Amino acid sequence: MKSQDPIAKNQDNRRKSADEYRLTIEPESPEDFSTLKLSGIRHNAHEHPLLQLDALHELARYLMPREQCRFVDSDLQIDGAFKHASRPADGRSIDEVFASINESGAWVALYNIEAHAQYQQLMWQILEGVRPLVEPEQGQILDAGGFVFLSTAPSVTPFHIDRENNFWLQIKGRKYMTVFDWRDHEVVSAVDVENFIVNRRLENVRLREETRERGIETLTSPGQGVFFPATSPHMTRCPEQWKDDGVSISIGVVFYTERMRELARVHQFNNVLRKVGIKPSPPGGGRSDGLKAPIGRLLVGLKRRFRGYRPPPGSY
Ligand SMILES: [Fe+2]
Repeated sequence: MKSQDPIAKNQDNRRKSADEYRLTIEPESPEDFSTLKLSGIRHNAHEHPLLQLDALHELARYLMPREQCRFVDSDLQIDGAFKHASRPADGRSIDEVFASINESGAWVALYNIEAHAQYQQLMWQILEGVRPLVEPEQGQILDAGGFVFLSTAPSVTPFHIDRENNFWLQIKGRKYMTVFDWRDHEVVSAVDVENFIVNRRLENVRLREETRERGIETLTSPGQGVFFPATSPHMTRCPEQWKDDGVSISIGVVFYTERMRELARVHQFNNVLRKVGIKPSPPGGGRSDGLKAPIGRLLVGLKRRFRGYRPPPGSY
């Protein structure tokens, strides 16, 4: 029997139109684009059937039992810890969360949406379009992932870093995205980046007043977005005065590359050097990367084999 659920009943139509949809994604200044720095992006992903609110509600139903819907406490601060949980603190169901998603202060994120086959296909469709931009500098794109953020003002995503490169696309409503240079170790020290990549520790990655001005803030609307490299510190906000706008939706289309795996391996080697009292130069700086990376790769292999090390899939 066919479901009468209004969210589910259009699924077949949506799948058909998604197959026919042509995605475009391009830099605002193609001649100036580099995978090593922040760049403005134009796209039409906001028109895609799979990225409309009802489709995302359905996706959230799929991800909820897999603990890939993430919720935060209402006291989340831009300079505080980015703590999130797999269930809302107030015990609401995912349908109840979506029923009030346009209300002031709403916040839910959908993690690793590539777990759903249709969305995995969508992430690869988006990345296919940027291969010519990315691969000359980065080598092959190796893994595709997606993170969707839905929030209603006032709301923030705290300052943090990620291990993937990110095409961050605004889908609905507005959002401020602030990005800092990944090589600026006054903002996040080389040790703290390394600690995140090697040990998944973020406790020292915090926004500090003295470096706040180094971030570049971009106001994004549907059809706009930014690219930023792996480990670029970033944060988002929807200010109080937008509380009547309804939900703001953005998606981070994230990926690893051959070059990024090399950098991650350098971090592994540097971490060992640091333990024996040597202060290594951070990766991305020069020729030493090519010498350190193979040793780092060996170290990751040994840690996997003998210490049960389980890095995020695709990261090494
Ligand atoms: Fe992020």
